[in-house]
Amino acid sequence: MRIAAAALALSFTAAACTTPDAASQSASMTQPMVSPILTTAQAFDDQTYAQPQVARVTHVDLDLDLDFEGQQVGGKATLDVLAAPGAKEIVLDSNGLQIASVTDGAGRRLSYSVGAMSDDGGKGAPLTIQLDGAERIVIDYRAAPNAAALQWLTPEQTAGGEYPYLFSQGQAILNRTWIPTQDSPGIRQTWEARITAPKPLDVVMSGVRQGEPEDLGNGRRAFRFVMDKPVPPYLIAIAAGDIDFRAIGSRSGVWAEPVMLDRAWREVNDTEQLIEAAEELYGDYRWGRYDMIVLPPAFPYGGMENPVMTFLTPTFIAGDKSNNGLIAHELAHSWSGNLATYSSWRDGWLNEGVTSYFENRITEQVYGKQRAEQEYALSYASLVEGIEEVGADSPTTAMRSPDAISPFETEGVAIYDKGTVFLRTVENMVGRDRFDAWLTQWFDNHAFEPVTSEMFLADLREKLIGNDAQLEARLMLDEWVYGTGLPSNALQPDPQTFAAVDNAVAAYVADGTLPTANTWTGWTAAEQRRFLERMPEERTDEQLAALDARLGLSEAGNNEVLFLWLEAALRNQYDPAVPKAERFLSQVGRNKFVSPLFTALSESDWGKPIARRIYAETRDSYHSYTRGRVDATLGMTAGE
Ligand code: BES
Ligand code: ZN
Repeated sequence: MRIAAAALALSFTAAACTTPDAASQSASMTQPMVSPILTTAQAFDDQTYAQPQVARVTHVDLDLDLDFEGQQVGGKATLDVLAAPGAKEIVLDSNGLQIASVTDGAGRRLSYSVGAMSDDGGKGAPLTIQLDGAERIVIDYRAAPNAAALQWLTPEQTAGGEYPYLFSQGQAILNRTWIPTQDSPGIRQTWEARITAPKPLDVVMSGVRQGEPEDLGNGRRAFRFVMDKPVPPYLIAIAAGDIDFRAIGSRSGVWAEPVMLDRAWREVNDTEQLIEAAEELYGDYRWGRYDMIVLPPAFPYGGMENPVMTFLTPTFIAGDKSNNGLIAHELAHSWSGNLATYSSWRDGWLNEGVTSYFENRITEQVYGKQRAEQEYALSYASLVEGIEEVGADSPTTAMRSPDAISPFETEGVAIYDKGTVFLRTVENMVGRDRFDAWLTQWFDNHAFEPVTSEMFLADLREKLIGNDAQLEARLMLDEWVYGTGLPSNALQPDPQTFAAVDNAVAAYVADGTLPTANTWTGWTAAEQRRFLERMPEERTDEQLAALDARLGLSEAGNNEVLFLWLEAALRNQYDPAVPKAERFLSQVGRNKFVSPLFTALSESDWGKPIARRIYAETRDSYHSYTRGRVDATLGMTAGE
C-alpha cells in the first residue's frame, strides 16, 4: 500500500486507514489527519506488544470451528496489514494460542516467533511475523482449552439444561487468548467471521449476521458475520447455545435461552424508547441494529457493550425494569466507548464515566427525573464512600490514572461515579443545552477514533470555555481529571431525593423502628438500596432476623437488593443467611456480587471456612475473571 510515512506515523487512529480510499485520501492531505497528541506518551498502551507505527492490522477475517467436546476454538485468522515502507515484521498479541502455520495470502510460508510470556500472564506473548512483503497473513491456530476470554458451559450450567453454551468476554485484554491480532483499543479494525457450530446451536456475534446459516451436512452449520466499522478488538465477541430471538422494535430485539426468552423480553421491551432517547440526546445511533443477548448467570459482568449485540447477565431481571439502567448504560457505550474509544486503559473514565453520565440522561428521559435523581444520588454516595475508604489522596481516586493500573479495573469509584459527577458538574455550570451540544460534536468529531483525556479537556477548553477565565477557574477541570479525592465544586444531589428513606433510617437508628412492609414495598429499588446502604453496619442476629421478617429481604426479587442483604448478613456472621448465600453463589457468576460476598465471609473466623467450603464447590463454574478476583480475596493461588 502506498502510504506516506508521515501519515502512517499517525495511523494509530483507525478512521483514516479503514479503506484504501480513505487512506490514500488522507495521505494526500497536507494537514495531519489527527491531533498529534495521539503520538505522545499519553496514548501509549503498555498492555500491547504491537508497534502500530511500523505495521498494523486493519481487518480481521476469522474462520473458526467451535468444538464443544474439546472446549476449544480453532481455524484460521486472515489479517490485512498496513505496513510502513521498509517494515520487515508485524507484532501481534497472543496468549496461549497454538499456532500451526503462518502463510501469506498466496500460501507462502512466513517465519514467525512467539516471545516470552509476560510475568503475570495477562499481557501474553508477542507473536512476531516476518512480512516478506506480504499485505495479508493467514494464521492457522487453535486457542487453548482454557482460553481466558471464553467460557464453555455444560448443559447443567444453562437454564434449559440440555445443550452446552459458549460465550466470550474480550474486554480488557482477553481477546488475545482466542484471536491473534493487535489487541489494543487504539488499533481499530474491521472484521468478518465464519463460525461453525453443531446443530441445533445458534451463534451470535458483535457483528451483523449475514443471511441464513448454511447447513454443512455433517451435523454442523456455518454462520457468517460482518462488522464493517472499525472497532477496538476488545469488542469482538461471540456467544453460542440453544438460543432464540424475539424482536422488540424494527432495529432491536433480544436473544435468550427459550425458557428465559419471555421473561427477558418483558424486561427489555423498552429498548426502542431507550435508543430514541439516546439519539435525541447525542445524535444518530450509527451501528444499524441494537440487539441484546441475555446470557446464563455465569457471565462475569452486568453487561458488556459488544456492538450490535449487548451481552447481559440474567441477574439484572427483576420483573419490574428497575435495573434497566444497565441497558441504558450498555446502549450509551454505542457512543462513549464504541464510537469514541479510550486509546489506553488508563483513561477508563472516558468510556465508563462518560457512559454512566449518558446512562443517567437516558434514564431521566425514559423513566423520569425522580428515578434519575435517585440513581445519581446513589452514585454520589458511593463516590463519597469510596473515597473515604481509600483516602482522598489515594492515586486510585484520580480519574486519569498516572500509573499503570489493571486494565480490568471496574470497581474503582474514580472511573464510573467520579466521571458521572464530573460531567454533571460541568453540565450544571455551562448549562444543559450548551453541554449537550458540545458532547454531541465530541462524539461526531471522534467517531471511530481513539481519544485521550488530554483531547477531551483540550476540546472542552476550545469549544466551551474559550477565553472565559472565570469559567475555567470555576470548573477545576485538571483537578477533576488528574487530581485525587472529590473536588470542592462537585454538584451534590438534591438532599430531598431520599428524604423519606433517610428519615426512616434515622428512626431505625434511634429506636429500632422499622419501615412497615407497605412502606418498604412502596419504595423504588433505589430507595430500598439506599436504606440498606445507610443502615448501621453492625447488626445482631435478632436485628437481622427482624429486618428479614419485616422486609422479606431474603426473598427480594431485585438482585441488587438481595445482594446488599446477603452482604450485610454475612458481615454480621448471621447463620440463617448461609444457605441462601450459598445458593446465590452457586448460581451467579457476576463478579460485582460474587467477590464482595466472599470478601464479607473472609473477614471473620466464622466466615472463612464457609467461604472455602462454598468456593470449593463453585470455583469451577466461574469465569476466569471472577475466579481471579475471588482467588485473590481468599488468598489462593490458581488451582489450589
Ligand atoms: N464495559 C463494561 C464492563 C468492563 C469494563 C469489562 C472494564 C471489562 C473491563 C460495562 O459496560 C460495564 O460497565 N458494566 C457494568 C454495568 C453497570 C455500570 C450498569 C457492570 O457489569 O456492572
Ligand atoms: Zn460500561
